[in-house]
Amino acid sequence: MTTLYTNIGELTTNDVRLGDGSAMGRLRDAALVEEGGRVVWLGAAAHAPAADVRVDCAGAAVIPGFVDSHTHLVFAGDRVDEFVARMAGTPYDGGGIRSTVAATRAATREELLATSAARAAALFAGGVTTLEVKSGYDLTVEGEVRLLEVARDLTGETTFLGAHAVPSEFSDRAAYVELVAGAMTRACAPHARWADVFCDRGAFDVDEARHVLTSARAAGLELRLHGGQLADVGAVRLALEMGCASVDHCTHVSEGDLAALAGSSTVATLLPGAEFSTRSAYPDARRFLDVGVAIALATDCNPGTSYVTSMGFVIALAVREMGLTPDEALYAATRGGAAALRRSDVGHLGLGARADLVILDAPRCAHLAYRPGANLVTRTVRAP
Ligand code: NIG
Ligand code: FE
Repeated sequence: MTTLYTNIGELTTNDVRLGDGSAMGRLRDAALVEEGGRVVWLGAAAHAPAADVRVDCAGAAVIPGFVDSHTHLVFAGDRVDEFVARMAGTPYDGGGIRSTVAATRAATREELLATSAARAAALFAGGVTTLEVKSGYDLTVEGEVRLLEVARDLTGETTFLGAHAVPSEFSDRAAYVELVAGAMTRACAPHARWADVFCDRGAFDVDEARHVLTSARAAGLELRLHGGQLADVGAVRLALEMGCASVDHCTHVSEGDLAALAGSSTVATLLPGAEFSTRSAYPDARRFLDVGVAIALATDCNPGTSYVTSMGFVIALAVREMGLTPDEALYAATRGGAAALRRSDVGHLGLGARADLVILDAPRCAHLAYRPGANLVTRTVRAP
């Protein structure tokens, strides 16, 4: 069966070989044909072939679906009191993770499935078509497996984050790091694609993170890392040393680390929802792009630092607060996220790509940043 999307006023493909020759690969008055979940034809609407189903986009903008490459969707409870206190001046230090751990341990699997699915549905309704989901709010062997099983219901891009915090029942942090690197990694590896560590001030240091990542790699997991959210403790260098697909936050990053990132295959994933919700200074994304660092934008959806389920909001923040143009932000939220997940089949709409696309309620995708807070998604199409 074929589906023709036609009368697309502005089609962003993110394929430099298409359209206007820019990285955005932009076509006007365009059409696209999907078959078997893939893009099989693109071009001028006037030359579009016939198809079994015809979708008239009525001049709207169409973009690749967002790739949200960093979320902590599986949790119970909320931390609104912590947010309210922060807005009155209490700084974020990661300590609240333990209260979400307590709530998550107390929740049933059904509750976790229902609340996570509801958050994922909000992301999908806002244009997300590929989603990464981390564990990290149970911090026991069986409990982390349970969170990954719930995450697997939502996505294949699951991440083991046993090294998120030291749980309160451990007075000996070295013993907890050994548990994570040993039994917990072995139990979780079959349920995850990725491993991640919160490597930061007040969380895990570089040596602890290296130990956990090394065991995770030996267990067959691919690597990513939280780094530079609260302070520069050397996490970006560790991410480069370990060949991580992505180092996430990068709020505190040196010029030297940016230069090293620029020559690497590690993506810098920026999470402006976290700066918003912790009232922190935003990283200047221009510094990254000007030296050639590949960037992604993601929601970081979690109850502590970024209870954000809208990639449109993330794009608006990145444009207004981090110095990106609307095109740069859209690219980072789509093809950038795909690179952060080492995926070449999503994040763009070139021939052969997954036909994951979003029809906007706007004639140009720049409206995403221009009209923040509005729901500009008419329809999210996730390829079967
Ligand atoms: O990405 N930084 C570590 N993890 C989350 C926050 C976790 C929490 O506070 O619950 C983040 O911001
Ligand atoms: Fe995070």
